[in-house]
Amino acid sequence: MLTRRQSWTLKTLPHYTLKMSYDKRLTKFARPDFLPEGWYWLLASKEVKRGKPLPARFAGRDFVVFRGEDNRVRALDAHCPHMGAHLCDGAVEGNGIRCPFHRWKFDENGRCVDIPVQTETRHVAPLNSYPCEEAYGLIWLWTGDAGDAEPLPVIPELRGRRTDWAHGNAFTKNCHPNVVMINAIDAHHFRSVHRLIVDLNMKPTALGPRCIEFDNRTPMPRTNPFLRFASRFYADALTYRMTYWWGHTGSVTVGPDFLHFHIIFALRPSEDGRTEGRTILVTPKRKFGAIFNPILLWASKIVGNYFAKGDTLIFSRIKFNLRTPVKADRPILEFIGHYEKQKPASFGRGRQEESKWVSHDLPVI
Ligand code: FES
Ligand SMILES: [Fe+2]
Repeated sequence: MLTRRQSWTLKTLPHYTLKMSYDKRLTKFARPDFLPEGWYWLLASKEVKRGKPLPARFAGRDFVVFRGEDNRVRALDAHCPHMGAHLCDGAVEGNGIRCPFHRWKFDENGRCVDIPVQTETRHVAPLNSYPCEEAYGLIWLWTGDAGDAEPLPVIPELRGRRTDWAHGNAFTKNCHPNVVMINAIDAHHFRSVHRLIVDLNMKPTALGPRCIEFDNRTPMPRTNPFLRFASRFYADALTYRMTYWWGHTGSVTVGPDFLHFHIIFALRPSEDGRTEGRTILVTPKRKFGAIFNPILLWASKIVGNYFAKGDTLIFSRIKFNLRTPVKADRPILEFIGHYEKQKPASFGRGRQEESKWVSHDLPVI
């Protein structure tokens, strides 16, 4: 992790110009005390069955997650504002949930709508409710205000197309998600770890304030007969494109011009400072897709594993600290500059504290 005293200046990066300045302290990158506003996976969709609420925990918060009668998933604060029972032991009613203890009912927005022993419910502090969506077989939670919620990640070249997907590996890495994410644009290590024979030259394009894409511009080399043959399948540069959303979820696109493989890496920080990740393999629906797409998704998994496995030992012991950047690290510095501009998760901040009532503050209602 970068300590407060470390900084980079343009002087440390001679011979080329960086638009971003690193002479300021880094306050967000790879810091466990910073979480950007964004979507984070919470559970697998198949775990959340209709009528069966589940507990979930993320970023120091406990949630109850349940599927309402309309089949949509909701996430509320887990503990009842009456005496703190965990609502996952309660019952789903309509699109709301009833507490297992004194049977108070809360609607999908967290408002108390029924107290069995009285008609007055207006004075009960609402539970926080969190925007939730389902995509790629996962439940995703938005960590900001509902009005700020963005669309879930869509691989840019598949925008507007129907897709098939499959889950790859679930994994844990012994470092911050940012450190795992930048591995995909660490051009330097593709040769040293993965033995790639092409020097990638990743150029960034901001696709929005919270989304940045890095695209390789190096053509396929023609240094041996195999590469000369392979280069016929690339009209331009070797396809290697990495798109990041909120600094914690990214997609990689690789492959010859006639067949691209797409892999999403959905990462989140665990409470002990590690990374919990899921890989999602995606391919567009196509003619005879019922036959070909399972094969292509399986092949995408092989591609993903090739890149993921090579670094396993490194990530088991790394203490990330980029003290001596070199020219090949430039995409990493550009990613860090992008990440440092991310908005912090608001995550119902303030409202959580309001709900921590103690008995002497309260009128009896
Ligand atoms: S603790 Fe939930 S109704 Fe009493
Ligand atoms: Fe790697």
